[in-house]
Order: sequence, then structure tokens, then C-alpha cells
Amino acid sequence: MRLRDRPASPLPPGPPLPLLAQTPLLWLHRHRFLPAMRRRYGDVFTLHIAPVGTAVYLADPLLVKQVFQGSTAIYHAGEGNQILGAILGRRSVLLLDEEEHLGERRRMLPAFHGERVARTVELMAGLTRAEVARWPRHEPFALHERMRVLTLAIIVRVVFGVTDPARATALAAALTDVTDIKPWHMPAFASERVAAAAPWRVLRRRRAVADRLIAQEVEHHLAAGGLEERDDVLSMLLLSADGDATAARDQLMTLLLAGHETTASGLAWTFERLLRHPAQLARVQAGLGDDRDPYRDAVVKESLRVRPVIHDVARRLTEPVQVGKWPLPEGTVVLPSIGLLHADDRLHPDAAAFRPERWLEGGESSPYAWIPFGGGTRRCLGATFATTEMATVLRTVLQEVTLHAPDPADEPQRMSHITIVPTRGTLVEAA
Ligand code: HEM
Repeated sequence: MRLRDRPASPLPPGPPLPLLAQTPLLWLHRHRFLPAMRRRYGDVFTLHIAPVGTAVYLADPLLVKQVFQGSTAIYHAGEGNQILGAILGRRSVLLLDEEEHLGERRRMLPAFHGERVARTVELMAGLTRAEVARWPRHEPFALHERMRVLTLAIIVRVVFGVTDPARATALAAALTDVTDIKPWHMPAFASERVAAAAPWRVLRRRRAVADRLIAQEVEHHLAAGGLEERDDVLSMLLLSADGDATAARDQLMTLLLAGHETTASGLAWTFERLLRHPAQLARVQAGLGDDRDPYRDAVVKESLRVRPVIHDVARRLTEPVQVGKWPLPEGTVVLPSIGLLHADDRLHPDAAAFRPERWLEGGESSPYAWIPFGGGTRRCLGATFATTEMATVLRTVLQEVTLHAPDPADEPQRMSHITIVPTRGTLVEAA
């Protein structure tokens, strides 16, 4: 409902604290702060936080559905990502809204169709076996770090299509640097003038290196020809962009940033949860011989539910909108809360429990109760890629080694870069 002519109305309830107090509570204690806000104020509440401003959290599936199905002219997502423009490039699908966004998205969609992704499973498994062969045996190490290396290797091979090992290593190293974005790098995105000053120039220099390597890959693809016969995403992008290397480069950087850290964190949590649930681990092990064991997919789904790697998604209102009983003014940011929906006992009975079985018992209460990949026209493009990769890596790792957690206590959740990660990095021993 459009509300342009109505007088200003109160926002949904929220804590009577200044932005300066709410911001650290959210960024440092999100996992306690947001559930506490929901208990106190209900499924819709307002926070005032930097850098977003007025933020209305939504933990009601019906309201989340309204946002995801709403007009792309009203619910903008790209605007909020402008800060990433300098690293992703202006044509990145993450930065665009409305028609421009849909155009880029449509061009990329075919590369992520299920049948196409399924063809990459053997490649993913081979890269996983090579990675596992390098792990130490009988001594503790952080599995999350190894998952970051592996998901990057998979992107370099499957998305960028690099087959030469030396070029793959050089590209992976440059891309690791460029995605290691620290808070003090951010001013480099905000202002050209500030960015010219050290130390923020560092990130731009790193990006220039990555750019050069990506440009080489693009040239390599174009020179080699036969793009139609190749399975990698870059070939598809070049074909659909009619050889427009700039657009292809921006989308490659986007896929890297959106797909690398997220999947590594998802995998780190999958192993963290399984290693603390021996019965569930045994059931996964029993199905390793089966290419399509549905229990493995249920484990991936349950891990993404109980430990979502992204806690919420955001849309900025370009005009006043009625959301449920709340008339929200233009400029408000609404945040469908993945974390709160996934932890809701009304939507997922005994929500805190890790119980993959629930997904085999057909118990999905609402399509908007499980949304680790967001929704609507902004839903994660790589969702099938990510779940296929997670199930493949899980299977291959457990075929190669036996894992055990030296410290059986649950690993607490903390923010790192753009995702929520296990605090001890999923500490394991392999045998
Ligand atoms: C477990 C792994 C992953 C998680 C949890 C995840 C989650 C998300 C979320 C929450 C969004 C925002 C959706 C919204 O605003 O409604 C998103 C967007 C996106 N993701 Fe993923 N993602 C994962 C892996 C990947 C992978 C592997 C790729 C590609 C290789 C990828 C590519 C993208 C792209 C391109 C977008 C932007 C879509 C658009 O704006 O139209 N993601 N992802």
C-alpha cells in the first residue's frame, strides 16, 4: 500500500537508546541483542544503527513475504551496497536496482541452473580430495581456514575456469588479498580523496593486481575460443555479454565476494554441528556410498538454518509503505531477519536443536521460515551452487578422513567480514 499523503506515524517499537548505544550492541552482541529485542517488542521492532539509520527488523514470515514479493522499484537492495562499488565495479549485480539489476541478473542466471551446477560436482570433489591430502593428521587445526582455501580454489576453477595450476595459484593468492576487507579499508570506498591517502591505498593496489589477473583470464578465454563448449561461469558470462569483458569482470568479482566467504562459513558450521552430534554424523557416514543421500542435503539445510551465515538482508524503501500494521516512511531500511526466523520455535519446533531429520519429515511451516539465501528477485544467485558444493565437500571430506573435535563445547558465533563464523574456527583433528 502506498502512503505518500499520510501524516507521519510512529515507527514500530524499539529500545529508547541513542544510535551510539544501539550500534555496538548490534555489531558486538547481535546473537543476544536481536532475540532480546524480539522478546521485548515482538516480531517487528525498530533500531537506530550505524551505518543504516532507521532499521525495522521483520521476524514475521508474512511480512517477509510482502517485502520479498514487493515491487523492485520500492524495495531497493543495491543502494545499500554502493560502498562496495570500488571493489566490485559499477556494473556489479549487487549494486544495481530495478531494470538494470534484473538485466544483469538474467544474464547470469543460466550459469547457475541446477543441471549446469550438477556437472561440476566431480571437479568440486577432486579439488576437495587435493585439499584434504594437505591437512595435518592427529593434531588440531582450524577447519574454517582450510574451507576458505578450498571454496576459493573451487571458484577459481569452476567460476573463473582456470585450469593451469600456476595461474590458478597466482589468481587465488591475489583474490585472497582483495577479499580480506578490514573495517579500516572501508574509507577507501567512501571517498576518492581519502582513498588516495595511505594506508587505504593498499586495498586499491591489491584490487589492481586482481584486475590484471582477471583481465588475463578473460583474454585467455577469448583467445582460446570454444566458449560454447566450456563449463565455467566466465565463458557463459562472456557469451551472454557478447564478449563485453568489463561487465564480465564486475560480475566475477561479485561472485567471488558473495560466494567464497559465505560457503566457507557454511561448511565450517556444518562440520562444527555434525562433530557435536554423533548420531547425525554416523547417519551421514552411513550414506556416503549413495550419490544422492537425502540425509546429506538435510544436514546442509539444517546447518544453514541453525547457524545462518548471514543474519539478515536489507531493503531501503524508496517511498512510504504499509508493512503489516506499520506505515513506514520513505528511506526506512527494512530487514527480513534470517536469524530470528530460523530460531523461532513456532516455525521450527525445538528450534535450537540440530535435527536434520526435520527436513525429511516434510515439516516446512512456511516458505519464508527458511531463508538463508534471502528472497524475491534478490535471492542468492549461487544458492544451488552453494548447497551442491556444501554437500559435495561434506561427502568427500568424510570419505577421505575421520574428523574429531578436540574440544566438545559448542563454538560461539561471531561476525567476521560479512559472515557469522565459529569463534574457534571449527577446531578439528583428522585421522
Ligand atoms: C552458503 C553460502 C551462501 C549464502 C548463505 C548466501 C547468501 C546470500 C544472501 C543472503 C544474499 C542476499 C539475498 C537478498 O538480499 O535477498 C545473497 C546474494 C547473492 N549471492 Fe549468495 N550466498 C551463498 C553463496 C553464494 C555463492 C556460492 C554465489 C556464487 C558463486 C553467490 C552469489 C550471490 C549473488 C551474485 C548475490 C546477489 C544477487 C542479487 O542481488 O540479485 N552466493 N547470497
